[in-house]
Amino acid sequence: MIEGQTPLRAAVIGCGGMGLAHARSLAALADFTVVAGCDLQEELAQRFAEQIAGARPYTDLDRMLAEQRPDVVVVATNNVTHAPLTIRAAEAGARGVICEKPMATCLADGRAMVEACRRANTALIVHHQRRMLPEFVTLRRLIAEGALGEVRLIRAGCAGDVLSDGTHLVDTLRHLAGDAEVRRVFGQIHRLPPDPAEEPGQGFPVSGGWRYGHPVESGAMAVVECADGLRAELFTGTLQP
Ligand SMILES: NC(=O)c1ccc[n+]([C@@H]2O[C@H](COP(=O)([O-])OP(=O)(O)OC[C@H]3O[C@@H](n4cnc5c(N)ncnc54)[C@H](O)[C@@H]3O)[C@@H](O)[C@H]2O)c1
Repeated sequence: MIEGQTPLRAAVIGCGGMGLAHARSLAALADFTVVAGCDLQEELAQRFAEQIAGARPYTDLDRMLAEQRPDVVVVATNNVTHAPLTIRAAEAGARGVICEKPMATCLADGRAMVEACRRANTALIVHHQRRMLPEFVTLRRLIAEGALGEVRLIRAGCAGDVLSDGTHLVDTLRHLAGDAEVRRVFGQIHRLPPDPAEEPGQGFPVSGGWRYGHPVESGAMAVVECADGLRAELFTGTLQP
């Protein structure tokens, strides 16, 4: 932390598994004080406050934003809520929003988030932490240095659906490609008939049902062409090789 600087006030929306993980990480850093956690489920907000010293529990987001005036807001809720909650945090004056992946569930939402954060001068980070893993940092450096020769094709796959693990796959590819601009993408998804006994929000490995409150596919593939000519072939789901 810069000497003499007051720690940033951080608040977390969504006190489930990831919300708590973010709060613990922020609380371990001298730059941040975690002042609040907000969840629609009161017992989770209470548990958050019990586990994160100094944090107050809320179930009403507007009240939390008005009373706590956080500098940094973490959005760790169900995927379809990322856009409206990020926009509310930016409009309430947060200087930064750390939004869990996937950034949004449709392009229009993603664009609205970027526009709202630009208007409010709020820094927006989507939490793709895997690009920080030492193996991927090293691999990116080796590729950039030419130690592996000219890389023309990256082929990669993962289990899960596109909006869960697949977003990490796409971000890791972009990281290894030196964040080169993506020029063209084509893709295809495959959806097995949903299991009528499956509850919305459940389901991993993906069985053609739901995750994080929205329907997901069983398998997907994409061919990505980057501006520097690099081609990537990505596969997700239970049907990938
Ligand atoms: N980066 C990663 O590696 C990683 C890993 C797992 C999950 N995630 C992402 O993190 C997010 C949360 O995942 P999780 O596993 O913690 O889910 P979770 O179900 O444990 O927690 C989500 C919480 O958000 C709360 N919530 C939903 N809408 C809300 C609202 N409008 N206001 C306040 N609270 C609200 C729910 O009540 C729930 O407690 C998801 O977007 C998921 O994709 C990221």
